[in-house]
Amino acid sequence: MRKIITALLLSMMPALALAAGGGMKNYSVDIDMDNKASLQRGAKLFVNYCLSCHGAKAMRYNRLAQDLGMPEKMVKENMIFTADYSKKPDGEISKVGSLMEVAMRTNDAKNWFGTKIPDLSVVARARGADWLYTYLMTFYIDESRPFGMNNQRFPSVGMPHVLWELEGLKKAVYKTEKGADGKDHKVLSGFEIVKPGSMSKVEYANAMRDLTNYMVYMGEPALMERKTIGVWVILFLILFFFVSYALKKEYWKDIH
Ligand code: HEC
Repeated sequence: MRKIITALLLSMMPALALAAGGGMKNYSVDIDMDNKASLQRGAKLFVNYCLSCHGAKAMRYNRLAQDLGMPEKMVKENMIFTADYSKKPDGEISKVGSLMEVAMRTNDAKNWFGTKIPDLSVVARARGADWLYTYLMTFYIDESRPFGMNNQRFPSVGMPHVLWELEGLKKAVYKTEKGADGKDHKVLSGFEIVKPGSMSKVEYANAMRDLTNYMVYMGEPALMERKTIGVWVILFLILFFFVSYALKKEYWKDIH
């Protein structure tokens, strides 16, 4: 037993070393897909602040309405700002059954940002919830970047800090640390708000949790259904156990 514990501890060493190093701020986030209110708030942030550049083509507005328990009318009136280019070349306002396509045309994106802007449908599956949350929490002022901002989780990112009005602007705070080579290194130790936004620190952190929550749901909308089905399957199995046990007793009662 002791050997197993030692082996387990040893196998965790690399993770511990990583956790200790680098001055990187890594946030972890609690994802709760049963929290419909949080998902709704996240969806609102997403359509207001992200869909102008990013698409989420694996998602339809009416699925959103259904899964998150919002009336279709409300979704139609408050959440659809994009155009649907699938039928007419000049596009038409997206309908509630449309895909969540990006509001911007791909060519414009290339010209403006010099890069193709990724679709975010499954970004949570590719990057993980903690990555996304940390990304949203770690934009900081960096005059050397074209938009004047950089990101700790995604250095030299081509995306502007689109939520700065909510969060405010923050600068990175550095400290000096002796590296393994014996020299002094400047490492990031945290952030400091220099221009407050419309939200407090806690409000912004909560809003980013909602947004991450929403992106995780969007990456796997069927997860919700599967969870509900899972509960019924377990209940059925428990019931079935008692039925089969009773049956077994009945079959064997004359033999013993
Ligand atoms: C003004 C346009 C614009 C808006 C609005 C925008 N983004 Fe971005 N985003 C970009 C660009 C450009 C990139 C590509 C960055 C790169 O590759 O350097 C990007 C990249 C990303 C990535 C990294 C994708 C990956 O895995 O490489 C994530 C995650 C992301 N954006 C999330 C968001 C979220 C969430 C919102 C809404 C709060 C948002 N973006 C709003 C332009 C935008």
